[in-house]
Amino acid sequence: MAQVPRKKKRKDSALSLGGGGPVGAVKFGEAGIFLVERRMGSSRRRFLTELARKKGFRVEGQMSESVTHVVSENNSGDEVLELLEKQNGICGTEFTAALVDITWFTESMGAGKPLQLEKRHRLQVKRAAAAGTIAVPVSPHACQRRTTLNNRNRLFTDALNILAENAELSENEGPYLAFTRASSVLKSLPYNVTKMDDLKGIPNLGDHSRKLIEEILEGGTCNEVQDLIQNVRYQTLKKFTSIFGVGVKTADKWFKEGLRTLNELRASTIKFTKQQEAGLLYYEDLILPVTKVEADLIKQIIEEAVHRFLPSAIITLTGGFRRGKEYGHDVDFLITHREEGREEGLISKVISWMTAQGIILYDDITDNSYHKWKYKESETFDRFAKCFSIFKLQKMVHNLEPGRTCSHGSLAANETRGIGLAGHAGSPRHLTATAAKDKDWKAVRVDLVVAPFGQYAYALLGWTGSRLFERDLRRYAKHFGHMILNSHSLFDNKQNTFLLAATEEEIFAHLGLDYIPPQERNA
Ligand code: UTP
Ligand code: MN
Repeated sequence: MAQVPRKKKRKDSALSLGGGGPVGAVKFGEAGIFLVERRMGSSRRRFLTELARKKGFRVEGQMSESVTHVVSENNSGDEVLELLEKQNGICGTEFTAALVDITWFTESMGAGKPLQLEKRHRLQVKRAAAAGTIAVPVSPHACQRRTTLNNRNRLFTDALNILAENAELSENEGPYLAFTRASSVLKSLPYNVTKMDDLKGIPNLGDHSRKLIEEILEGGTCNEVQDLIQNVRYQTLKKFTSIFGVGVKTADKWFKEGLRTLNELRASTIKFTKQQEAGLLYYEDLILPVTKVEADLIKQIIEEAVHRFLPSAIITLTGGFRRGKEYGHDVDFLITHREEGREEGLISKVISWMTAQGIILYDDITDNSYHKWKYKESETFDRFAKCFSIFKLQKMVHNLEPGRTCSHGSLAANETRGIGLAGHAGSPRHLTATAAKDKDWKAVRVDLVVAPFGQYAYALLGWTGSRLFERDLRRYAKHFGHMILNSHSLFDNKQNTFLLAATEEEIFAHLGLDYIPPQERNA
């Protein structure tokens, strides 16, 4: 402690500190808290400081000898110590305040008083680098983890994803999220899990997920998963929901009516929506993975079409391909223009032109309805002008199996016009157009989204995914920042104002999060 500059003790020390915000009377002066900003971020630190002070805790704005608890999030004990030594000239060996994890803080807030320190709260310092232990604690929030496509634990994550999918198909939101989070945290680990000890301190792994991992570690497979993949309901709903335009509710209804196969669907008297008709018509193509080569080709086609109407419009590939994936289930694009307003009305012109060229097999255009939106509503869907479409991609070489990049398509030729839905309207019993092996085109799902320039960064962040990364970003914003994040904007409830951002980096900064590049958002 000798090297910490001595500070006169004051009874009102909490009141004397910077940071502003509402301050309650100090009820628990004996515990002095210092929150480490690293990995926590400044806005979350500010928020936690205010929260604790309101509850009567003493939170110090700077490190001093009156600090008894150094609280940090996602840092190891060694890292915190190193930081304090660097920033405050504190000598590690003489340091007496306890280095504790954020769990002590949140539990104390919950209890309304500083809790007795337990072993599990303390950060370990200079621990032996035993094999399998992790240097940096793993965050429970996907938006605070770096998840590349290099998944070292596929054996477990594949199994967990099947349980998650089954829960989703049964509309069990809780288990769906639990298995998805468990799978996601394993994807982020920089090592292969080879024994249960490797999972010490890893968040988001409930009993069920841990049991599954243990079973796979012991015998290579998990019985529950094996049973599921044989299960007729699981198989049927998975197949039905893989049809464009079919959600869980519809799939379940059809299953309950006794339907099991696509041919049974096609032969039935069901009144399909336009989207489902297209989904069935192009089913065999749409279940094929879309390659990055095809995505780039479609980008060229869209650029040509968009620039006819708006020469300096910006077209960005988003979704999984922006995260570095080589294959996707569709291709997502975001379109904008630096002069706000110029993008209005663009989508219908572009789609009309491409339809005339025979490029569009199906389209569903939604107009921008942002003006009708109350920004405080948190919604899953955004209000941008967009088009969910199916493109007709010409191919030079027919075989498009994954792993073989052999597609060199170009704009579909005029003579192919008319293969779209028009010719099939009202005749759902002919819902097969892509079964022919020798056709020279492939149907590909494409989503086009048009954002005004002022919302572009938010739209880009929202459409890059992954789904769980987005979900956790929004949850983090709400719980730790008192902000509402969506694909249009970030609203700060405390300041009662929108926070503008021109780049994704600025959005992460507003949220008090380290910037995570797209390739590391594969949560
Ligand atoms: P996708 O469903 O296309 O997923 O949504 P993906 O990550 O690109 O993966 P694949 O390869 O196609 O399966 C891309 C992102 O766009 C957002 C989602 O949050 C997702 O992260 N999105 C999608 C929306 O915001 N709204 C939508 O209507 C659809
Ligand atoms: Mn996609």
